[in-house]
Amino acid sequence: MKKVENLETIFIATTSIDDQPKVEEELLEKLTQTKNWDGRLLHKYKGFWCPTRLVLPLVSIEKQFQSDYENIIDFIILATLPKSGTTWLKALIFSIINHHDHHQKSQLLTSNPHELIRFDFDIMYKTPPQSSIIFPKIFATHSPYDALPSSIQQSHSKIIYLCRNPLDQFISTRFFVLENNFEGENEPSTIEEALEMFIKGIHPFGPFWKHMLGYWYASLKDPKKVLFLKYEDIKGDTLLYVKKIAEFLGCSFSKEEEENGMIEDIVRICSFEYLKNLEVNKDPSGEFMNVKYSSFFRKGQMGDWANHLTISLAKSFDEFLKEKLGDSGLTFEIFTSTQEHAHDD
Ligand code: A3P
Repeated sequence: MKKVENLETIFIATTSIDDQPKVEEELLEKLTQTKNWDGRLLHKYKGFWCPTRLVLPLVSIEKQFQSDYENIIDFIILATLPKSGTTWLKALIFSIINHHDHHQKSQLLTSNPHELIRFDFDIMYKTPPQSSIIFPKIFATHSPYDALPSSIQQSHSKIIYLCRNPLDQFISTRFFVLENNFEGENEPSTIEEALEMFIKGIHPFGPFWKHMLGYWYASLKDPKKVLFLKYEDIKGDTLLYVKKIAEFLGCSFSKEEEENGMIEDIVRICSFEYLKNLEVNKDPSGEFMNVKYSSFFRKGQMGDWANHLTISLAKSFDEFLKEKLGDSGLTFEIFTSTQEHAHDD
């Protein structure tokens, strides 16, 4: 059974995963593996370090997209590295896309953003064996650009990529993992050891610089297809970026909507403080893929790395980052002007 519908879109295809466990074993055996600082296993899949439990869902997606190539529709894909602001991006996109529909838009007040726009691997995870896959028109991914199904790259799908100062992303990941204690029996490495692994590119969906550069170059090549955003820029002027995103997606706000303060409303409702304090996101029983909703809202600040890492570590990281990003044109401002001239005591 195959079916393609438009906007609220559903992409349904029959899956046959009878022999998946065998395929999984065989596939995983062929891939290089390593352990992350928290003890979790990562497998090198399509050039990136994939959390082991997500390899098979991603392989299935790839197959599904290949077999349904002739029916490929234009998806909207939100791509991020974990802890780069995905939850925020999901909330913003959901509100922007549904800005004409008050009822639909208000779902953000009663649902966690991850329930409204799902991840590709989460969709596969929740699909029982031998049943149909329901693929929404809008979904999120952590996969690097080069690892996306080729049919997505060839279609007119739109991709919105959000990245973040990698040191803040590293710190955010560190606290997220420690809070959720995924592998309780393992003693996690120190923050310095974890940073060393991060610099080697060993972290979920890493190396981070390859992840960013993949989407960066894709956005330079085809800016109508890939919108490249930074967390810090959106923080600086959320209103401007809500407008930019709406334009990019072809659903700009009318003059009347602007005058009625609709964009300001979206900015407010998607803000860190507002989302964090919604009952649904505070509910201790609310979970997404075994992670408490509240875990997706920690501090929501820029430059939190400075509360956990020394200036000298950050300076050598900055050197490393500049070297990796080379003359790509992609840059990050790690330091405030005061930090730039500071030294560790
Ligand atoms: P911190 O840990 O630095 O606070 P992701 O959504 O990709 O998992 O990223 C989580 C990070 O985004 C966390 O960063 C979280 O606090 C922050 N975040 C969540 N919602 C946000 C929002 N509405 N505005 C800004 N930052 C947000």
